Amino acid sequence: MKLCASCFSFLKTPSLEELKKGEIPLHVAVIMDGNGRWATSRGLPRIVGHKKGAIALRETVITCKDLGIKYLTAYSFSNENWQRPRKEVSELMELFVEVLGRELDGMIKNDVKLNLVGQREIIPPDILAVFENAEKKTENNKTLVFNIAFSYGSRQEISQALKKIALLHKEGDIELKDCSQNLIEQYLYTAGIPDPDLLIRTSGELRLSNFLLWQAAYSELYFTKTLWPDFNRKQFFLAVKDYQNRKRRFGKL
Ligand code: IPE
Ligand code: IPE
Ligand code: MG
Repeated sequence: MKLCASCFSFLKTPSLEELKKGEIPLHVAVIMDGNGRWATSRGLPRIVGHKKGAIALRETVITCKDLGIKYLTAYSFSNENWQRPRKEVSELMELFVEVLGRELDGMIKNDVKLNLVGQREIIPPDILAVFENAEKKTENNKTLVFNIAFSYGSRQEISQALKKIALLHKEGDIELKDCSQNLIEQYLYTAGIPDPDLLIRTSGELRLSNFLLWQAAYSELYFTKTLWPDFNRKQFFLAVKDYQNRKRRFGKL
């Protein structure tokens, strides 16, 4: 059998213009996994991988803006990640503060609106203050809504929503018949944000790790073995191209 160049066209990175001719997802979510392995395989401390990961995230934000994607949600620290060794958690917290400080002006200039999605009550107040300052400074920005899922867990998110709704019911503010999917969505951390169309996970792991379990009900999933620090514009384009070849049915015919 003769193999021609077009046989491998699915591997070819499309250009920005080519992608823009197809459907651009409104909302892309990413599970940025593999920072630790990236560093360890080079004999470097894990935090070096997280630092490289922050640079990769910056490139992803710019790529989303260039493609005209309206919402990006990046899983940066899970509720379960609080259980990592104390040293890694404190190095990560320092890094979040450093990166938010460094990137704030760029977000303002690029009309990016930062939004923290996660369990705020358990975030140390000094770290939360840095996130909330960035939220405040970017609150009127419109081009890209950039959700940072930080101290985030989907099950915790759903349970706190149900608790709030149960309380409203107890106090007679809502009737049982009003407890619809729409109402539940209003009490999720992602209230007002459309569901992700495309959900990407790097590093070869094939799981959701407590990320957007409700919201990703009909997301297109894309898994790549690339470790997050190596995930660049080209890789993002390949994911979007793959998305453009999917047939979304939402259970219908
Ligand atoms: C993802 O990378 C970033 C965070 C969870 C904070 P990891 O730290 O999970 O890296 P691996 O999976 O151990 O390689
Ligand atoms: C998921 O990655 C969380 C983030 C990427 C922030 P983990 O590395 O924590 O997930 P598991 O432990 O492999 O499921
Ligand atoms: Mg991991």
